[in-house]
Amino acid sequence: MNINRANVLVTGGAGMIGSQLVDALSARGCQVWIVDNLSSGYRDNVPDIPDERFFEADIAQDAPLDEIFTRSFDVVFHLAANFANKNSVDHPERDLLTNGLGILKILERCRRSGVRRFVYASSSCVYGNCDGQMDESANVFDPGTPYAMTKLLGEHYTRFFTSFHGLSTVSLRYFNCYGPKERPGRYRNVIPNFLYTALLGNPLVVTGNGDETRDFCYVADIVNGTLLAAEHDEISGAEFNLAAGRPVSILGLAEQVNRLTGNDAGITLAGRRAWDHVTHRQPAIRKAQTLLEYKAETPLEKGLERTLAWMREHWEKIRRQTDLTL
Ligand SMILES: NC(=O)c1ccc[n+]([C@@H]2O[C@H](COP(=O)([O-])OP(=O)(O)OC[C@H]3O[C@@H](n4cnc5c(N)ncnc54)[C@H](O)[C@@H]3O)[C@@H](O)[C@H]2O)c1
Repeated sequence: MNINRANVLVTGGAGMIGSQLVDALSARGCQVWIVDNLSSGYRDNVPDIPDERFFEADIAQDAPLDEIFTRSFDVVFHLAANFANKNSVDHPERDLLTNGLGILKILERCRRSGVRRFVYASSSCVYGNCDGQMDESANVFDPGTPYAMTKLLGEHYTRFFTSFHGLSTVSLRYFNCYGPKERPGRYRNVIPNFLYTALLGNPLVVTGNGDETRDFCYVADIVNGTLLAAEHDEISGAEFNLAAGRPVSILGLAEQVNRLTGNDAGITLAGRRAWDHVTHRQPAIRKAQTLLEYKAETPLEKGLERTLAWMREHWEKIRRQTDLTL
């Protein structure tokens, strides 16, 4: 499907990834609508979307969704979520409401209103603790947190709507995504939290023994992969990993952030987080490269520089918006 100038809905469009997806869609001439309850997103992430196309609403509520779906959308990108693991451990009911009931309500309306493609932002956390490469042929999952369980539940619902109702869908398992527009916070990812802590001149706290690895993918690459997933017609019902394909140790990342920011406060090793059982995340991205023509183009160094530049430029605002008890 050619998505240029399409009518699209982005759930979670005020969030870190959603807002940059909105920018990319707008640049292609799409009419973009957003539904977001601003629980972890920011209205000022999407200043160019007028109020009549921005619905501040909860996706677990019927009335606003019925109003939104009086329009007909070609594509729905579903990114709204209660984010992420630690948040779900602290607030499991809210997690289930948004990530479970919320996706079901959106899928049902997509089916009824004849949406041509539903794209679901799933997560690498569905694999749980898994030895070796994480690839899409896996059929045993070990979700260790409520968030991992509900992101996987979302995939099951998505697959059901394809197999039973014939809705055209794709699920994307994003690995750790970073970039501008992500404020640091207790429930946010390690990169914004490291950058923020380093800019304050404080030591970076590495949990575990530092050998743990994760795959960090720059947001522009994730957004490109997400657009490709909407454009390829022949892949309905499939799941794809979207990642950089280069695992990095958390200790190595901390050293890189301290170097980049000139922070000489060093690194402190802390114990492993009680809910975190995943030692390595090693993604296979061959399927996305082959079937979606996906490329992860941004080297970590470049992505970190861009993220740091954004954080420096918006420092005062970020300080105001950040929960300082990281
Ligand atoms: N950032 C990552 O590293 C990463 C990794 C894997 C998967 N994902 C997935 O990608 C998607 C986007 O992640 P992000 O990093 O941009 O997170 P984010 O928190 O910045 O974005 C999520 C958005 O959803 C909104 N939202 C939350 N609950 C809602 C509700 N009940 N109704 C309406 N809106 C609601 C939030 O306000 C926020 O704007 C999420 O689905 C997340 O699970 C992200």
